[in-house]
Amino acid sequence: MCGIVGYLGNKEAYPILIKGLHRLEYRGYDSAGVALINKNNDLNVYKTRGKVADLEAFAESKDTSGSIGIAHTRWATHGEPNNVNAHPHYSQSETLALIHNGIIENYSVLKKELLSKNYTFSSRTDTEVLIQLIEYIKESNHVDLVTAVQLALGQVVGAYAIAVVEKGNPDLIIAARKSSPLVVGIGDGEYFLASDASPIIEYTDKVIYLDDEEIAIIRRHEEPKITSIENVEKTPQIQQLSMNLSQLEKGGYPHFMLKEIFEQPRTIRDCMSGRVNVEGTHVVLSGILDNKEKFLKAGRIIICACGTSWHAGLIGMYMLEEYCRIPVVIEYSSEFRYRNPVIYPDDIVIAISQSGETADTLAAVELAKSRGAFIYGICNVVGSSISRATHGGSYTHAGPEIGVASTKAFTAQVSVLTLMTLAIGKVKGVISEENYLRITKELQSVPAKMEKTLLLNDQIKEFSKIFTYAKNFIYLGRGYNYPLALEGALKLKEISYIHAEGYPAAEMKHGPIALIDTEMPVVVIATKKGMYEKVVSNIQEIKARKGKVIAIVTEGDEIVKEISDYCIEVPLTEECLVPLVAAIPLQLLAYYIAVTKGRDVDQPRNLAKSVTVE
Ligand code: F6R
Repeated sequence: MCGIVGYLGNKEAYPILIKGLHRLEYRGYDSAGVALINKNNDLNVYKTRGKVADLEAFAESKDTSGSIGIAHTRWATHGEPNNVNAHPHYSQSETLALIHNGIIENYSVLKKELLSKNYTFSSRTDTEVLIQLIEYIKESNHVDLVTAVQLALGQVVGAYAIAVVEKGNPDLIIAARKSSPLVVGIGDGEYFLASDASPIIEYTDKVIYLDDEEIAIIRRHEEPKITSIENVEKTPQIQQLSMNLSQLEKGGYPHFMLKEIFEQPRTIRDCMSGRVNVEGTHVVLSGILDNKEKFLKAGRIIICACGTSWHAGLIGMYMLEEYCRIPVVIEYSSEFRYRNPVIYPDDIVIAISQSGETADTLAAVELAKSRGAFIYGICNVVGSSISRATHGGSYTHAGPEIGVASTKAFTAQVSVLTLMTLAIGKVKGVISEENYLRITKELQSVPAKMEKTLLLNDQIKEFSKIFTYAKNFIYLGRGYNYPLALEGALKLKEISYIHAEGYPAAEMKHGPIALIDTEMPVVVIATKKGMYEKVVSNIQEIKARKGKVIAIVTEGDEIVKEISDYCIEVPLTEECLVPLVAAIPLQLLAYYIAVTKGRDVDQPRNLAKSVTVE
């Protein structure tokens, strides 16, 4: 989704801003722009549809000097992606420029009012309305820019992260946030601003995460000042970033997605580190221990998430019910937040989010909190909005995930849910010692089994070429492999743009089987244990109708190998842990099909990494 970068310091701002925009490219965008104040105090705005490289080409012959500036990548919401709708937006007099992430919901009312005051608009965006409003308030009330921003934001309904600069004022950036993240980086005599920490990390590890309805007033040679919209001064909470630069680079891989697929053995080790003892006999999850009473009393668990995180949540639901004997329901955050759900005080809501910024999941958290439930977060991004809005939680420790298609975050989420299941089951005394020890031990061996599975890379790369003809795919699985089928289908569709559907294998007969013909590839996760024999029957049904079966099987399987067209063998593991290992061939299959089709794997069309608008 949209990205923000800002710089105020003693260096040239433009190269820093451009580099920052490149770091934010992974979020997904369709246009880019920059505003700079030069030595003569001119406020120059350059913007264009397309990539950051297009902006660089456009600005090449322009004056890009100045030690203060703001820059933006836009993911269109109001108005199509074009040069005019791109940010920054000037105010009417062209003395102010604004960049904005989020949506101003009451923009049409505000626009109507401004039109009646003779303001004109060149774009279709809600953002232009906000900068005109700020200018109108500044002029008509004769107030300074900080006050004008505060008063304008007081009239705004919706979500925003903004940054404003003013012609003739090369020493000031004003930034503010509500429901859309914003981080201020504090360097040595220089300040940075960004919608996430990735553009900041190479300059400083000292940051301030703005809270909702907070304004940061960043002045040259002064400590940043934080106020509320009502101008109440707040003490800035300076935090230390734990990310490092190499995590934000491709490290020799052609795409971030492939790098992140290959990182999974390490991320699962990191996720378990300090949580599982060396002997593999004991799980300590402080988030559960610290809130032991809540889990002992819990009448129900509600899992809220979106997309891939929802798929991880579905696996979590199966595990928590099987081993903790607590009723669990899983909800799409976007549905949950709007359907007046019944929430009891002894409910525990588990919010799962890689980014920790997904607007719908954040809103689901706030709703459940307002109804008295205890909220537990499973987030990847440390310090993210959801992680801060929850009562307790466990980080996934997967490191920054840059590829838009989630891979390592998914397996890390499933790992945390496994650890939670073991910890809650133990606290409640409902998991048998045998299950507890067997699953804990087996979880420890997952990274090595992932490493072995990654050796299939070349095989999958080769045979994926066969399927680039396909217009549709079906993915099937049962039990723990059903959510994985959903995830495999999602991976394929989002990066290759091939239509794909995941189903519980037994649902085939209730409709989808009508789609099977010689052209239809069907990916079946048919690993040993669980309902293996039943899945074998499902494969027979597909073969009887001449479908092309790509089977993911347990090493040494002969039965499925015999009847399927292509077979991928993964190491044997505990049934509930199969998704961790079997996710890898599904991710690689989607990746190589997309690469062969020439898709933009890391930044697929229309998608955003962090969905901060609903
Ligand atoms: C799919 C994908 C999305 C996200 C979804 C939720 O590969 O990345 O479906 O899983 O947008 O995002 P988070 O987990 O950040 O809340």
